Amino acid sequence: MEHLAADTGPGIHRVLCERPATMRASDLFGYTGRMASQDQTLTDEVRARCAELRADIDRHSRLYYEEAAPVISDLEFDALLRELQELEQLHPELQTSDSPTQRVGGAPLEGFVTVTHRVPMLSIDNTYNEAELREFDRRVRKGLDGTEPVYVVELKIDGVAISIRYEDGVLVRAATRGDGYRGDDVTENVKRIRSVPLRLKDDPPAALEARGEVYMTVKELERLNKLREKEGEEPYRNPRNTTAGTLKLLDPRQVAQRRLDIALYDLVPEEGHELTTHVETLKGLERLGLPVSPHYKRCASIEEVLQACEEWREKRRELPYETDGLVIKVDSAAQRRRLGATSKAPRWVIAFKFPAEIAQTKLLNIKIQVGKSGALTPVAEMAPVRLAGTIVKRATLHNFEDLAKKDVRIGDTIEVQKAGEIIPQVLRFVPEKRPADAQSFPLPRECPVCGTEVHKDPDSVCLRCLNLACPAQVKERLEHFASRKAMDIEGLGPALIAQLVAQKLVTAPADLYQLDVETVAHLERMAEKSASYLIQAIEESKSRPLGRLLFALGIRHVGSRTGEVLAEHFGTMDALMSASMEELTQIHEVGDVLAKSVYDFFETEENRALIAQLGAAGLNMREETRGAKEEAQTLAGKTFVVTGTLENYSRDEIQARIKQLGGKATGSVSKSTNYVVAGENAGSKLDKAQQLGIPVLTEAEFEALVEGGA
Ligand code: IVH
Repeated sequence: MEHLAADTGPGIHRVLCERPATMRASDLFGYTGRMASQDQTLTDEVRARCAELRADIDRHSRLYYEEAAPVISDLEFDALLRELQELEQLHPELQTSDSPTQRVGGAPLEGFVTVTHRVPMLSIDNTYNEAELREFDRRVRKGLDGTEPVYVVELKIDGVAISIRYEDGVLVRAATRGDGYRGDDVTENVKRIRSVPLRLKDDPPAALEARGEVYMTVKELERLNKLREKEGEEPYRNPRNTTAGTLKLLDPRQVAQRRLDIALYDLVPEEGHELTTHVETLKGLERLGLPVSPHYKRCASIEEVLQACEEWREKRRELPYETDGLVIKVDSAAQRRRLGATSKAPRWVIAFKFPAEIAQTKLLNIKIQVGKSGALTPVAEMAPVRLAGTIVKRATLHNFEDLAKKDVRIGDTIEVQKAGEIIPQVLRFVPEKRPADAQSFPLPRECPVCGTEVHKDPDSVCLRCLNLACPAQVKERLEHFASRKAMDIEGLGPALIAQLVAQKLVTAPADLYQLDVETVAHLERMAEKSASYLIQAIEESKSRPLGRLLFALGIRHVGSRTGEVLAEHFGTMDALMSASMEELTQIHEVGDVLAKSVYDFFETEENRALIAQLGAAGLNMREETRGAKEEAQTLAGKTFVVTGTLENYSRDEIQARIKQLGGKATGSVSKSTNYVVAGENAGSKLDKAQQLGIPVLTEAEFEALVEGGA
């Protein structure tokens, strides 16, 4: 088994580059918590690092959860999160209630009805090697006062988590995980998955909520991609994102045309269920006709668990779907209750992540991509190669410094890795296989699209085309402007934007609002009807909230959350435009870099002109909900019971808070209780809640619920 620990090494460490997964924040800063709290400058440094980590983590979770377009691997993401967790542990005074360590994921998407999960769908912690698994085992045994746990090892299928509810044996609702507390109602789409029974067999209980993973086989992805290729469309990149995209399709018929699959692995406790072990739960689910993966295994010791991990390392490639690891769970329900959960994850379960896969292929060419802010990114074009279940042809080289450092040349055989099994990255060239005529790629002096001289960013390694009128940038900016999280202009996709830009009909977002049906109808693959839909969608986008517009403008560092923060703080576009640097930096969530970026954006003449044009076109320039937020009765109609000792609230304070938000706080747990908030040493009320299957929230979860709106 040492093999396992040793083998996770090179791949993982290479992804992390500067900081291995096991390195602690205290290693990084070279001190212990006690010393640091005596030293003010160090604390400032730590404070700054925490803020930076939070911003990074928020951005990456948004990319991952909301845009399904992550740019770093799960490993790198976990390393960021861990570092923050450790800093917050060393400096509890730096912990904030909105820190990503207190949350479970991103926000639900628009277009579907939001569903509040009766019991939150927590995430689970990850391990990457034998030592970390043994550490998990030690924690479990300690939590059980020496009683030996039995574990169940399951596959971690790489798909999308789902919760499905049956009442009187009939499927009534399916919801995505969303942020863990609230997800999207995707019932109609889940009903199109053939292996999901619409009615349960046997003798189903009055109500049952099961959780599992919706996924797509590799073969199905290939079948869809063949069809897409015929249509001249870009292939889908991997089964997981395609599954997520499919579940979010607004047309269930389209969902039915793609073969999704499901495996259930959990049951939400409900009155009347008397299951005592996980294996029994799985068998129970199966008896009712629910699909359960047959590949689970009971293990009487951590040694057996480790052996199972070792076995699956290679065997997993024979599976028809992708897996990104294994999940190790305590079998006994009583032991699980005893172990409980942290605000983020249950203590009775852990994931073991497989090391990222690496493949070799030939580097055919290097292309340069120009992003919406003009950043030039080298992209490797490779001979197609199979990697972690999909065929890849392109991989990122991050930036030109990275390219120079790696000294990768055209003609080289290179090693590529799927980081978190999503975006392939070029790791290195294979020296033994370098041909004599391998050609290094010169640093570009000019933008490959518009020919303008490129500049190096003074504060980063980035090369940039500064020509705001560069067609590549214009296209990227328009795509961003029209995207779902921004102005959400339906029907305005990359192909149409390319035409509009090529025909010089649109050079800036404001031009969109000058288009008319006739002009659009003349474009390729457009007609009267589709053109009028588009014009209508453009018209509708005028009333988007100010925060969305701010995000849509593509101001560097302004994500959708920052857009909202700015809108809420300033209330109107005018107020924001005339804000000084001081005013900007005073906002809690705005750091210096962000403030400068916003300030500079509105200092630029072209940008001021753009805002004036957008205003003249009739776009909404003020925050309508301003001030209403404090009053929002987010807990209206909900009954809470608070039990145990809380950290941040006295009993009176939390009850007052619940009332302030429109909720009711009562003293005893009954069927009509919606939530129990449990602190340290919670006693019989907690047991009762668990018996009745009432959602139990930690203090942090309560805060997240309140902030997110119930
Ligand atoms: S258990 C409270 N079991 O992995 C425990 N999760 O990183 C809930 N997943 O969101 C999760 N296979 O989408 C569990 N056999 C399995 C799983 C599994 C895949 C996914 C699931 C979850 C994520 C956690």
